Amino acid sequence: MIVRKREMQTGAWFKIITNYLKNIKYWRKYKMNNDPVIKTFIPYGKQYIDEDDIVAVSEVLRGAYITTGPRVEIFERDLCNLTGAKYAVAIANGTAALHAACFAAGIEEGDEVVTTPMTFAASANCILYCGGTPVFADIDPDTWNISADEIEKRVTDRTKAVVAVDFTGQAVDLDRIRDICIRQNLILIEDAAHAIGTKYRDKYVGSIADMTIFSFHPVKTITCGEGGAILTDDENYYRKLLRFRTHGIIHDPKLMRQKPFNGFYEQIELGYNYRLTDFQAALGSSQLKKLDKFSKRRAMIVDIYNRELGKIPELILQKEIPDSKTTRHIYIIRLNKKLLRASRGEFYKSLNEENVGLQVHYIPVYYHPYYQSLGYRKGLCPVAEDLYEDIITIPLYYSLSDEDVYSVIEAVKKTVDKYRK
Ligand SMILES: Cc1ncc(COP(=O)(O)O)c(C=O)c1O
Repeated sequence: MIVRKREMQTGAWFKIITNYLKNIKYWRKYKMNNDPVIKTFIPYGKQYIDEDDIVAVSEVLRGAYITTGPRVEIFERDLCNLTGAKYAVAIANGTAALHAACFAAGIEEGDEVVTTPMTFAASANCILYCGGTPVFADIDPDTWNISADEIEKRVTDRTKAVVAVDFTGQAVDLDRIRDICIRQNLILIEDAAHAIGTKYRDKYVGSIADMTIFSFHPVKTITCGEGGAILTDDENYYRKLLRFRTHGIIHDPKLMRQKPFNGFYEQIELGYNYRLTDFQAALGSSQLKKLDKFSKRRAMIVDIYNRELGKIPELILQKEIPDSKTTRHIYIIRLNKKLLRASRGEFYKSLNEENVGLQVHYIPVYYHPYYQSLGYRKGLCPVAEDLYEDIITIPLYYSLSDEDVYSVIEAVKKTVDKYRK
């Protein structure tokens, strides 16, 4: 009896201890699954500033000019040297660059301008600034860039220009779009805010469209803090762009109409103060020297993402066209909703909890309440609207280490596992 009782007691203790150990194991596993894959938050984008940049800016700050001066001209020359464009006008930001380009193109009330909905609002706002009407053409379902066929469908006898956006840095189908513009007598403005360093068929973006704009916002491949530029081969556009940047004012006595006091200056049309400062330009030139290494590192990260995330059937990746040798600005994953049981919102929240910085590029422009108030309605561009429901931008920037890249991939895999159907 006593022996049996002892055996039972030992058995009970054994059970208690094994259960205890099991619980620790499960708790650990549970905890591990709930601990974020990434310990320190990784943002989705970040500038890279080194000592050379700091020295370049400091030199200007110690000198005579801090607003638009010789460094702006040098930066403009640097942009021409890089791209092969004849003229460059450095300007306050990418939005001002788009505004200036629409002005130089002569957009005014009654004109229609075709653009993509899958972009930042500035690509369409610039048309409105000039009194024109943005007309949205749908995107290609694979490259996510504006579709040449859709542009052609939207051309009417009121269409004056096309604002084509190199989405994520990948060049649009420039040959076909240029062909449409030539046939239909339209001005092509390339919004290459994402695409400095990208080549289309061996020619740098910046040397192909009638006017090309860049943005140098800190999440872009190179930065001036804030900054932008318009590139063109057309001297007439160039002169207009220069005037527009500085109040519509000219200083050349030969061009003056009234010969005012001492022929000092004359305002001949409505312009703005959209000037870039010399210290921003110095930063721009210094950053341009690193463009090649920035582009290469971004391409390496894109290759790793493509290779690893491409193996996950629950994700769809942006298709790359061989004509574009892309300097990628952002990396987007598209959720394959047939294989996942999470909405984009749920997936985003969960992945964000793994300490991965995320964004959505973009809400279709005409979804914004302001555009809705102008009469635009959902349903205009179904391909872009479908894409919007499924996309999330994950981290991509020069200083992202391989270790960070692989932890982002781990975090994405964990989130996919969580929501797999
Ligand atoms: C496609 C596109 N166009 C234009 C702009 C405007 O550039 P900025 O912010 O320099 O005014 C942006 C900015 O993010 C953009 O993404």
